[in-house]
Formats: sequence, structure tokens, C-alpha cells
Amino acid sequence: MARRAIYPGTFDPLTNGHVDIIARACHLFDEVIVALLVNPGKLPLFTVPERIEILNEAVKSQFSQVSIETFSGLLVDFARQRQAHAIIRGIRSFKDYEYELPMVLMNRRLNPEVETVLLVASEENSYVSSSLIKEVFTLGGSIEGLVPETVIERMKQKKTQ
Ligand code: PNS
Repeated sequence: MARRAIYPGTFDPLTNGHVDIIARACHLFDEVIVALLVNPGKLPLFTVPERIEILNEAVKSQFSQVSIETFSGLLVDFARQRQAHAIIRGIRSFKDYEYELPMVLMNRRLNPEVETVLLVASEENSYVSSSLIKEVFTLGGSIEGLVPETVIERMKQKKTQ
């Protein structure tokens, strides 16, 4: 039976840190579903269709066992629907661990059949976050090498719109 994992997130925007975690998950699992949270409460930089396009361009083309999907509601319900064995989350620091731990335990309580696997980000991506990328770019700093090329192009387009 194929081992299937879900890698959930907001991906606004996708960073090289996310891509690194996806690559690590692909070494461990036969199928990896990158699951984009549709959260009407949040005002994102990129729309859901734009973020799906970015994920398709930058991730799906590189990793054959990856599929891109959207979800809303509880992550564990989506995991159950997709018969996933694991939820993948990337951690860069103790701060991330502290943020993740309550979610791991809550998700385990809600669905004990799905295990959360915390993967440690590579050193070079350990300070990269979507929010920092947006801030640095907005203030005119370079984000070269920290996000996929398509993200840079699309962020430049947003600036001129
Ligand atoms: O990229 P993010 O914003 O850090 O991802 C957070 C995400 C999507 C993993 C988290 O917000 C989530 O799982 N949301 C779905 C709703 C849910 O299941 N909430 C209970 C979590 S214990």
C-alpha cells in the first residue's frame, strides 16, 4: 500500500524552505499531497488560484509523486478523506516547535490514526518565512535565492499593478 502524506500550509508565497520540506517528504513517502488551506478570513498576497499555479510550476514539475490540492475545515478531516498516513510540517527552530506542538497534539486527539512528522528545514532556509519574504520585498530588498523564480516574477508584477 502506497504511503501517503499531506503537507498543509498557506504558502503565501511558496518559499525555498517549503520546497526543501517537500523534497524531504518525497524521500519518505510514496505520495505527497501539498494541501493549500483556503481561509476566507485571511487577506493573502496571492489568490488561491495563483498559489496553485505557483505550486504547479515550482513543485509539481520537479516531483512526480506530488499532487496539489486545496482544503478548508479541519486538516484531520481532509487527511481522513484522503486516507493519509501522515501530516508533514517543517520546523526551523524551537519557536516553530512551540507553535507546532499544540497542533500536533490536537490533531492526534481529533484523529489518532494520522501521525504528524516534523521535518527539520535545511540550514540555508532556516530563517526564511513567507512573512519575512513579503516584508523584505515590499521594502525593496532582494529575495533572490530564497523563493522559486516564478514567485519573484509574480511579486514584481503585483508591485506594478
Ligand atoms: O502555513 P501555515 O499558515 O503555518 O499552515 C497552518 C495550517 C494550515 C497547517 C493550520 O492552520 C491548519 O491546519 N489549518 C486547518 C484548520 C485546522 O485543522 N485547525 C486545527 C489545527 S490543530
